[in-house]
Amino acid sequence: MPDVRLVNVTKRYGKIVAVNKVNLHVYDKEYFALLGPSGCGKTTLLRLIAGLIKPDEGEIYIGDKLVNDVPPEDRDVGFVFQTFALFPHMNVWNNVIYGPRVKGFDMKKASRIGDEVLEMVRLHERLDAFPNELSGGMMQRIAVARALAAGSRLLLLDEPLGQLDAKVRNELRYEIRRMAKDLGLTAIHVTHDQSEAMAISDRIAVMKKGGILQVGTPEELYMNPKSVFVAHFVGESNFLEGYVSSVGSKTITVELRNGIKVEAVHKNAERLKKGERVVLAVRPEAFTIEKGIKRGKNSIEGVVERTTFEGTNIRYEVRLKNEDLIVIVKPSLIGEWWKVGEKVTVSFPLEKTHVFAYPKAGLREELAVE
Ligand SMILES: Nc1ncnc2c1ncn2[C@@H]1O[C@H](COP(=O)(O)OP(=O)(O)O)[C@@H](O)[C@H]1O
Ligand SMILES: [Mg+2]
Repeated sequence: MPDVRLVNVTKRYGKIVAVNKVNLHVYDKEYFALLGPSGCGKTTLLRLIAGLIKPDEGEIYIGDKLVNDVPPEDRDVGFVFQTFALFPHMNVWNNVIYGPRVKGFDMKKASRIGDEVLEMVRLHERLDAFPNELSGGMMQRIAVARALAAGSRLLLLDEPLGQLDAKVRNELRYEIRRMAKDLGLTAIHVTHDQSEAMAISDRIAVMKKGGILQVGTPEELYMNPKSVFVAHFVGESNFLEGYVSSVGSKTITVELRNGIKVEAVHKNAERLKKGERVVLAVRPEAFTIEKGIKRGKNSIEGVVERTTFEGTNIRYEVRLKNEDLIVIVKPSLIGEWWKVGEKVTVSFPLEKTHVFAYPKAGLREELAVE
């Protein structure tokens, strides 16, 4: 029963703290994503779980077993890397049955497993091909097949789709999830692509600078981000800066630049006080747009500065009266479009806002991903 538990795990490289006091519980049979910008420690965390490197502090459990001192080959994990790590001098078949053979299975049993996993990734007809004769998508399917053939109940995938074209990437991500689910595996999938993480995961851990900021289902992270970084990195958010002008029992009033007051639901604002500097996060699709000047709660006048037709959606960049530039996304099929230069009023429901204390480092610095 491979659940994976990390307790206060830290890994340093000289002065760099690649993984910083991470606590995490990935449940048995869960499809779990580690999501975060490049350099935040995702690969290091995965390599710690695989046993390829050792933590400086903390404990790693696979199932009920403390594995800190267990070598990788005895941890029973399958690993799929971003780069196509197949043996180049072996054909597909020999790549796939390599794991079962190393495990000491006889040819009959290894062949049965090889047949099974190649059927599963739908590449049985290519078993004579060498890696350099395959497309990137095929190579990655073989890499998954090889990991599955080794029979591990825990599958670790490090940006397995990173090198692939968008179309192939989108298909393959569902395929990998389906295989993991069909086989009842626990999977930990590293990605910097939030749409990938959202599409395939039961739960996601959002990482930044070696730490985990928030763990939740895609819906939880999207609907209730606990920090400006998560509001920014999972989905998209507009950030309006201001100061708390009053705190009610359920709502909070924020004064934006130019004296514009808006209201928001308390959610993350338990400890915020009058006068405190805050940031309000509002999703691009939470806004309504109307032509002209309309008065109402949480309505702000603005001018459309730019429109982008994206197919499914149209993106509007609107300069608000408080000087902030926001993005609003509307389905293109609603048929009502606004033009550049047009005066509009944008409004947002107070329950669709999230208030955060202004980041100590500054908003820009807090959101920076490099
Ligand atoms: N072998 C290593 N030696 C020195 N620094 C490393 C090594 N591996 C990773 N790092 C550093 O640790 C941090 C986390 O890296 P990594 O886990 O690869 O991030 P990610 O996979 O999220 O891009 C980075 O600052 C990286 O430069
Ligand atoms: Mg990495």
